[in-house]
Amino acid sequence: MDITFTVNGRSCEVAPDERCSLVEHLRDGLGLKGTRYGCGQEQCGACVVLVDGVPRNSCQLETGTLAGRNIDTVESLEASPEGRMLLAQFERLQAGQCGFCLSGILMRALAFVRESPDGSPAAIARALDAHLCRCGAHPRILAAIEASWQALRAPQGSR
Ligand code: FES
Ligand code: FES
Repeated sequence: MDITFTVNGRSCEVAPDERCSLVEHLRDGLGLKGTRYGCGQEQCGACVVLVDGVPRNSCQLETGTLAGRNIDTVESLEASPEGRMLLAQFERLQAGQCGFCLSGILMRALAFVRESPDGSPAAIARALDAHLCRCGAHPRILAAIEASWQALRAPQGSR
């Protein structure tokens, strides 16, 4: 019997013995090209998606292991207030250059602004430790995440 999981709220079925990585399934099976394939070895963070709300490298996740899981990709960002805030701040601060790293970073940032009680630059830098940006856009990326966290999470009067 096929196994079922959801991607951006839509149900997907795959064979339980399918030896396909999640990033391949997203890009080639479902046509969701926003998730990037970088190193393929859990070294760059370009392929990060949320699995039940937790950032995971989709290059090393096999679809056959995902029964019952809820996957969110960069294509889902417009659907949540936190995602829309991140998109707005990344655009406002021009946080990126070629953009290859950004879908993974945005999904990591989504989990961060939802979960982290600490929105300091040091906490954001720690959260992004597993992400490489070959364009050197990290300062603007960090600033966009900090601005998003402040807008979403900081108590009134401390902004
Ligand atoms: S492609 Fe998955 S971590 Fe680099
Ligand atoms: S913006 Fe080019 S790799 Fe990050």
